[in-house]
Amino acid sequence: MTAATDTGWANPLRDSRDKRLPRIAGPCSLVIFGVTGDLAKRKLMPAVYDLANRGLLPPSFALVGFARRDWDNQDFGQVVHDAVRDHSRTPFREDVWERLSEGFRFVQGAFDDDAAFDQLATTLADLDEQRGTDGNHAFYLSVPPKAFPTVCEQLQRSGLAQHTGDNWRRVVIEKPFGHDLASAKELNAVVNGVFPEDSVFRIDHYLGKETVQNILALRFANQLFDPLWSSHYVDHVQITMAEDIGLGGRAGYYDGIGAARDVIQNHLLQLLALVAMEEPVSFEPRELQAEKIKVLSATRNILPLELNTARGQYGPGWQGSQSVPGLVDEEGFAADSITETFAAIAVEVDSRRWAGVPFYLRTGKRLGRRVTEIALVFKKAPHLPFDKTMTEELGENALVIRVQPDEGITLRFGSKVPGSSMQVRDVNMDFSYGQAFTESSPEAYERLILDVLLGEPSLFPVNAEVELSWKILDPVLQAWAEQGTPDTYESGMWGPRSAEDMMTRVGRVWRRP
Ligand code: BG6
Repeated sequence: MTAATDTGWANPLRDSRDKRLPRIAGPCSLVIFGVTGDLAKRKLMPAVYDLANRGLLPPSFALVGFARRDWDNQDFGQVVHDAVRDHSRTPFREDVWERLSEGFRFVQGAFDDDAAFDQLATTLADLDEQRGTDGNHAFYLSVPPKAFPTVCEQLQRSGLAQHTGDNWRRVVIEKPFGHDLASAKELNAVVNGVFPEDSVFRIDHYLGKETVQNILALRFANQLFDPLWSSHYVDHVQITMAEDIGLGGRAGYYDGIGAARDVIQNHLLQLLALVAMEEPVSFEPRELQAEKIKVLSATRNILPLELNTARGQYGPGWQGSQSVPGLVDEEGFAADSITETFAAIAVEVDSRRWAGVPFYLRTGKRLGRRVTEIALVFKKAPHLPFDKTMTEELGENALVIRVQPDEGITLRFGSKVPGSSMQVRDVNMDFSYGQAFTESSPEAYERLILDVLLGEPSLFPVNAEVELSWKILDPVLQAWAEQGTPDTYESGMWGPRSAEDMMTRVGRVWRRP
């Protein structure tokens, strides 16, 4: 019997639905806390519109904003309108907008204001009556984690967290899920004290990206790669998430958090889990999560940490043709901030498939360019029947999953250079989404919001994954805290010297994507 059969989720053997057909959400409302924030404006509200435009929201859908601003429903509608105009992926259509905006409501209040939550309960009950949202409500907490306990308690106090009969209540939380393992546990206890685990949707927006979901297709729909996917052929794996932007304007969130907590704890360890996991029994959520959990449980830092991790903070430099300030000169950061903006770690997955293969994870702000990729770098051929001079330009074979931008996959291998002599050089074979498919990929938040409304949990990390990820990162963060000030690196370059050293020491180099 599979774990999925006792969960209440659809049993794949009995679910005969054609899985190619898009699923449309049922009647419901989505309440966004933190509706004045950047995420709501740039991602959440545009994604709601894009879903409506694609016909994936039901007529009985409502979007409710909750914030302290002195707005009425119309003001809120204008804010959503501006966000949609500036950031939606699909073209603006008046008829779609008209229908969608009839379901907009705004509730004014602070998180500790009982009356505001009672008002929210009344508003949602009215929507159930007038718009037919049927008592199904998703609460999206796009707010700082310190506000989670208050909002959860208020939802409980006002009766909004409890469903009745067949309807559902779900809560969506955004990272950071804690600051370390201990605080993640506390946070989870608060959330689970109000919402059962299967009603909690933790957003890791990388899992909503098409290219990330494609890792499963690449690995499990093909015969070609599987035999190569192990320590027999793979020398090491590099997972890189590089950004060229700085942190101006984000001090409130980022200072004291740093690159490892911001990105490695969630996005990069999730990518590692997808690359390293075994084939799940099915794509049922429980089965998929079980395989990811196995990988994260088997993941260990390579010791000693001083030699196998690196961290840095960007100093001034050039980004393209623009001169940019260092972190400590960005607005809101203290002159003595020790927050790292670059982090690299080396881990191993203790399993039969991966024993002895290092996985290098790195991320940074103000690096050479924006790129996220996963590279499997293969061992060199054990013997080369060529004269040495013929293969001087031959590197290692590599399979590179280009997560973004320029989404696709590259296979790098050696090829004969045309001419009368035998000379072998690296060439690339490319698959590019842009060329292979005509339709553009949905934004990660479109997919994830739709999945929340459908109650489809596959793409959301469960608490065990969050805690295991902190378990991996905690010792690294502790070691760094003891070391004090991070190295600096010049903006526009590829990180601190210590990152290069970490690789050269073991005879490897970071890729320069
Ligand atoms: C977020 C991080 O999770 O991901 C940000 O908090 C980062 O610091 C962002 O900039 C990057 O997302 P994307 O989708 O642009 O790669």
